[in-house]
Amino acid sequence: MARHLITSAIPYINGIKHLGNLVGSQLPADLFARYQRARGNEVLFLCATDEHGTPAELAAAKAGQPVADYCAEMHEVQARIAEGFRLSFDHFGRSSGPRNHALTQHFAGRLAEAGYIREVSETQMFSHADGRFLPDRYIEGTCPNCGFDSARGDQCDNCTKQLDPVDLINPHSTISGATDLEMRETKHLYLRQSAMKAQLEEWIDTRDGWPVLTTSIAKKWLNDGDGLQDRGITRDLDWGIPVRKGDQDWPGMEGKVFYVWFDAPIEYIACSQEWVDAGKGADWERWWRTDKGAGDVTYTQFMGKDNVPFHTLGFPATILGSGEPWKLVDFIKSFNYLNYEGGQFSTSRGRGVFMDQALEILPADYWRWWLLSHAPESSDSEFTWENFQASVNKDLSDVLGNFVSRVTKFCRSKFGEVVPEGGSYGAPEEALIADLTNRLSAYQAQMEAVEVRKAAQELRAIWVAGNEYLQEAAPWAAFKEDPERAAAIVRFSLNLIPFYAALSSPFIPDAAEAMAGVLPDAPATWPEDVATALSAVPGGGAMVVPDNLFRKLTDEDVEDWKARYAGTRA
Ligand code: 2FM
Ligand code: ZN
Repeated sequence: MARHLITSAIPYINGIKHLGNLVGSQLPADLFARYQRARGNEVLFLCATDEHGTPAELAAAKAGQPVADYCAEMHEVQARIAEGFRLSFDHFGRSSGPRNHALTQHFAGRLAEAGYIREVSETQMFSHADGRFLPDRYIEGTCPNCGFDSARGDQCDNCTKQLDPVDLINPHSTISGATDLEMRETKHLYLRQSAMKAQLEEWIDTRDGWPVLTTSIAKKWLNDGDGLQDRGITRDLDWGIPVRKGDQDWPGMEGKVFYVWFDAPIEYIACSQEWVDAGKGADWERWWRTDKGAGDVTYTQFMGKDNVPFHTLGFPATILGSGEPWKLVDFIKSFNYLNYEGGQFSTSRGRGVFMDQALEILPADYWRWWLLSHAPESSDSEFTWENFQASVNKDLSDVLGNFVSRVTKFCRSKFGEVVPEGGSYGAPEEALIADLTNRLSAYQAQMEAVEVRKAAQELRAIWVAGNEYLQEAAPWAAFKEDPERAAAIVRFSLNLIPFYAALSSPFIPDAAEAMAGVLPDAPATWPEDVATALSAVPGGGAMVVPDNLFRKLTDEDVEDWKARYAGTRA
């Protein structure tokens, strides 16, 4: 039995995520976790909410809540929505929990001891009205280069020039509008990634078969300009993990917290400790410590492309720099962006469909199927309502749903609610078994390689093959001349339904459960051998006609939804 550690990038706490976020991390991670479990492997699948940073503080202030309360509430909201999408996390943790505090401080202490941390004195904008240092992107003013009047402290969106907040003419705080800003001296810690460049580069160069998207981004950061830069890992904020060296104070760092991108990936490990604390597991170290049994674990991470630098360089630098035997990632699956109807999904403008809204209009399987079968792997992809309608109606309703409904209803009308006896399988059944044997191994190969779209194509082809078989074998015609032959066709077709249930379960778990209920006596295991699977339930076994698996999406539905999700979320 193989052992798979699987993590999804942890979504920011502020606000509900859109479908583009979902398809870039949590959903494909769930697909892979469900597949590996279905194959009988041992899986630990983790996700959490990413709760620190200025956006969380500001969102809490906007909601008029203390930030800790806001995070606790939003965590529950995200957890419920994740359940609605059937995301099968073994644990959904919180980066603000005590385990992550301790572990983040532990790593910082180890890195300091190893000489990988340096202290830097710098000047930064302090806003008297806001009572805080302002991160660069919360300062706006006029661009000294092009005169654009809403240039941000880090960059001008009009001319793209990289800026320093001091460059701006008439700067103001975007939080309060205040203009009484002053440059103040402050001290921060930097992780000396530059000192680890050779080690990181060697590690990346020796990774086998990583997606080009992943390695090209890593390489760009390693070799851009002057090479890999040291990274500030502390901030002047109230909300976050206090800067300490293990359990010791860090002189000069009082009142400061770690930067959110330093502590967020450490939550992957802390989350496994939370999983044990919650009584769901016995031992987290055998997943994470190569000296304590994690040597045979395969660790796969899922994320959008904007997260790749932090996972290929930042987090590995933390792990390698600690000098301790922590498990490093084996495979990083990254995704491009999903666009929405000719533009971008936008959280700030409420453009596109958000996870809660999606579940209000249709059950999870419709979304899961469309998103996964159109995952933005080799390039950005686009959600359009027409394409969604066409895929759902064709793949789910006309092919899969129709097959299940035709077979079960025909069986009930001619043979009753029982698997019919009599007749035997012949050439058409042998041919389908041979075809499905090839297709099953192709499907498995794509799933193992985490080729999401290609796996979806293989699965669809497997559904289509059954449909075509039924169409040609035509038990409704055979029944008149040769009822025994019709019985054999129906028995064979009925056995295809639990076969489909097992194969489809990583993509569409609810429909898979409904399909598995059609033949209650069928084994609920992965079909290792097609011929065996398709004769698993002999004549005489119970047969239950399920409700229709999928409904067809009408033009009216599409018109309505298109208008509803055009922008400005309430
Ligand atoms: O991009 C994001 O949504 C980040 N919150 C992802 C963090 S992943 C990690 F490192 F934990
Ligand atoms: Zn400019």
